[in-house]
Amino acid sequence: MTFTISDAAYATDTPAAKQAMYADLRSQLQGLLAGESDFIANTANFSALVFHTMPGLNWAGFYFLKGDELVLGPFQGKPACIRIKKGRGVCGTTVVEGKSIVVHDVHAFPGHIACDVHSRSELVVPVFAQEHIIGVFDLDSPLTGRFDEVDVQGVESLVRVLEAAIVAA
Ligand code: SME
Repeated sequence: MTFTISDAAYATDTPAAKQAMYADLRSQLQGLLAGESDFIANTANFSALVFHTMPGLNWAGFYFLKGDELVLGPFQGKPACIRIKKGRGVCGTTVVEGKSIVVHDVHAFPGHIACDVHSRSELVVPVFAQEHIIGVFDLDSPLTGRFDEVDVQGVESLVRVLEAAIVAA
């Protein structure tokens, strides 16, 4: 199944349609990661699949924890900030809290780090390996309020597929 939902169509998208999109993404991801243990290749393909399937995104990618800061990993979109201190911005706050954060309007999130002035909303999901947080997967949108609870659960389910591949590697 191919999804080519325009931004306008997205606004009227139903939770069921979004869940179907995430189910399709999970199965594509399982195919992409199957039998491949290279972490960079897998996270690069993960970013590309999400960025080119989900409507209304202007950035999708990883930051990985190195000491007390996050360092930019594989991504799709414009060049982004390279290092983010733990506790800073939406990404660094996600590391401290250990759970996903949805920002409806980035201008209302104190400390939001603007890598792209066009970003209006954001979803950041933590990535775990053996119960330790190793980084985050970050999605940005030029649309205010782009991400809802269905997206949180959907993107978390995709990250679980990646984590299973990391453990299996
Ligand atoms: N907005 C993020 C920084 C990363 S970029 O969006 C790619 C933050 O506040 O942590």
